[in-house]
Amino acid sequence: MSDYALEIRNLSHRFGDYPVLDRINLKIWPGQIVAIVGPSGCGKSTLLKAILGTHPPSEGEILADGEPVTGPTRNVGIVYQQYSLYDFLTAEGNVAFGLKLDQSSFFSRLVLFPKYLKQREQHLAQARDFLKQVGLDHACGKYPVEMSGGMKQRVAVAQALIMRPKVVLLDEPFGALDEAMREDLQYMLLRFYQENLQRKREGKRPEYTILMVTHELNEAIFVADRVIGMSRFHTEGNRGATVVYDKPCPVFHPNDPRDYSKFVDQREELRHAVFDDEYIKDRNKYVTFWNELSRLAEGQSLPPENPS
Ligand SMILES: Nc1ncnc2c1ncn2[C@@H]1O[C@H](COP(=O)(O)OP(=O)(O)O)[C@@H](O)[C@H]1O
Ligand SMILES: [Mg+2]
Repeated sequence: MSDYALEIRNLSHRFGDYPVLDRINLKIWPGQIVAIVGPSGCGKSTLLKAILGTHPPSEGEILADGEPVTGPTRNVGIVYQQYSLYDFLTAEGNVAFGLKLDQSSFFSRLVLFPKYLKQREQHLAQARDFLKQVGLDHACGKYPVEMSGGMKQRVAVAQALIMRPKVVLLDEPFGALDEAMREDLQYMLLRFYQENLQRKREGKRPEYTILMVTHELNEAIFVADRVIGMSRFHTEGNRGATVVYDKPCPVFHPNDPRDYSKFVDQREELRHAVFDDEYIKDRNKYVTFWNELSRLAEGQSLPPENPS
């Protein structure tokens, strides 16, 4: 097992002659919930597809839990803005579906039918566990037509989690939802974070490592413990977008009041450092995550190592 859930080394990507991503370096350790923000079209989805393994980068290397990503693997899962559930399956059927695909061919189902039935029961039981994780224990038997957008998006999250990926990618996952549902799902992420902390306290590896693209700065700071900004507004921007902002951000407990005024300063800094096309800066000016951690680490139990 690697120290890092995800490691990106010198990743660049171009479409034809057009450079999109320029030398991206990133290390994320297990249990982090990282938000990625950046101007529309700067290459956020391109980066996620590279990490997913479906669209390899032009250059560079990606490691998920220490293993090179050379194609789609179980180590990385993704949830898109638009859930895509099977209408003919219940919530639990949808969540269990990936497990079935993974483990039983048609032939083996035929020959090992009794075993398959037993396994199927296990899969459905697991699916119910994961639906509980996303707050849908009451809706296991519902079909997609009977669910709201927010519920369907939770099913999609459970579908990704049940494969136990080392990293879950969320690409604007709540963008299609109305405000109340969006907030509900944000609390779900805060609860995952608390579970991560609990597992760390027990000396176990945290289960949820999440990399989430969002265009909502409040959402980014509220749900994540680290915010990354990508843009081309840096001195080498003609070579593509890169990480121009990387800092820790305040951690909220699900029971804390949602107080946006607490992070006004960081929000304004992000707006300036990542979205202001008049402000061209050195690409490393706001990339201070590891430095800030070493300062925070005095007196706290953060990872001992401090790679730059
Ligand atoms: N398959 C593709 N072929 C050519 N250009 C693409 C392709 N996919 C994305 N692009 C371009 O790459 C840039 C980054 O796109 P994308 O990663 O979707 O941005 P974001 O998710 O940050 O909005 C955009 O200029 C987009 O037009
Ligand atoms: Mg996108």
